[in-house]
Amino acid sequence: MTAMKRSILIHPDPRLRKICTPVADASDALRTLSRDMLETMYDAPGVGLAAPQVGVLERLIVLDCIKAEGEAPRPMVMLNPEVMAASEETNVYEEGCLSIPEQYAEVTRPAEVEVRWLGLDGREHREGFSGLWATCVQHEIDHLDGKLFIDYLSAIKRQLITRRMQKLKRELARG
Ligand code: NI
Repeated sequence: MTAMKRSILIHPDPRLRKICTPVADASDALRTLSRDMLETMYDAPGVGLAAPQVGVLERLIVLDCIKAEGEAPRPMVMLNPEVMAASEETNVYEEGCLSIPEQYAEVTRPAEVEVRWLGLDGREHREGFSGLWATCVQHEIDHLDGKLFIDYLSAIKRQLITRRMQKLKRELARG
């Protein structure tokens, strides 16, 4: 079966602000969802996508932070991902989000994190991430708790970006 692109919700949307439900197990439905989400993410293009961004309020994220030309892709699917440990050392990255198109801002986060998740293989995984991977996995896990990168910015910047997105949505609705 081929993967199907799903449409990405644009902020502000109440579904992007919900606490998502843990998944019970690696089901065929979640396999299909994650394949569709990877297709959607690569097509966008983006380096990560969380299930609530396609309107599914379950704890599932996909990511692939390999950006270098000619390097093999590394698609990752995480069910019920959790940050188990975070470094005191921080990193600043200019973040963006497929639900907040073409808006970027610097966000400070722990430079390294240890993440535990359930894989589509039904097994528990644990891995340390650094660099862009660390930022991306934290950004995607935030989505599962209804949190967006603009929540780390000042209220003024957040409101400015939100107003731009409201305008964009009105334009998209008009077609
Ligand atoms: Ni995002």
